[in-house]
Amino acid sequence: MKPLADQRILVTGASSGLGRALAVKLASEGAQVIATARREDRLRDLADAHTGIEPRVLDLMNADAIAAFCASVGSLDGAVLNAGVTAVERFLDGADISDAAMVDTNIMANVRLARALAEPLNGGRLVLVGSLAGLVALPYQAVYSGTKAFIQNFGLALRAEWAGRVNVGVFAPGGIKTEMTEIEALSKLQGALADVDTVAGDLFRFYCSGKALRVPGASNRAAVMAAKFLPRPLLSQLMKRVYRP
Ligand SMILES: NC(=O)c1ccc[n+]([C@@H]2O[C@H](COP(=O)([O-])OP(=O)(O)OC[C@H]3O[C@@H](n4cnc5c(N)ncnc54)[C@H](OP(=O)(O)O)[C@@H]3O)[C@@H](O)[C@H]2O)c1
Repeated sequence: MKPLADQRILVTGASSGLGRALAVKLASEGAQVIATARREDRLRDLADAHTGIEPRVLDLMNADAIAAFCASVGSLDGAVLNAGVTAVERFLDGADISDAAMVDTNIMANVRLARALAEPLNGGRLVLVGSLAGLVALPYQAVYSGTKAFIQNFGLALRAEWAGRVNVGVFAPGGIKTEMTEIEALSKLQGALADVDTVAGDLFRFYCSGKALRVPGASNRAAVMAAKFLPRPLLSQLMKRVYRP
């Protein structure tokens, strides 16, 4: 892998939370970061506050915009496909529009980006941000949990298929204190959420490591171990108690 100071790295979902913190970390290490999201004012503030960050507005629910972006982005050394959305609610209270936003943003956008970036990323590193919710099925986030299970299998399948071409990895964090979790439905879990800069530091090290899969945090890794030894339906029953609205 090239030294970071010589790398051009794409980070999606860089207007807040984990993506923003990672963009800052990568730029502070000397990388040239292409930071994307929909909120232009947030991206501009980020680029004004840190050297080495190029803001690019990109709505990941727009397939044409993704194609145009990828055609114009130029050669990349890395990409961290981090943008994502969730909804925490009883499945029957959900709506088609938010289900479609989760499937489009968390799944289809990453599939489209991965295919279109295969050439610009040749010889580089691609990290997909999944979630612990992709490894342990979460009641009240059924659609989100399904999209993140997709990311895990998609990423690991691509890793094998693209060995020697693009180094693919999946980063699967548990709860983090970000805009995504600043919601009433998760109010009782606030004390258990990880600090975003700490998780971004872990994501940064994972990006540099070239490894396949990372679950940051000892308690999250314990949950993954439990998923190996406990029957999965039992684990989801336990999760139901934690996440019950
Ligand atoms: N927070 C957690 O507890 C947690 C746990 C496990 C995994 N994760 C994963 O970590 C990643 C980052 O989440 P976060 O916690 O940092 O959430 P966040 O603060 O809400 O940030 C989400 C980012 O995604 C961008 N985004 C959402 N929809 C988009 C769209 N249609 N087009 C372009 N950008 C879009 C948002 O930017 P704009 O709104 O400006 O477009 C924002 O920058 C997600 O993949 C999430 O699933 C989070």
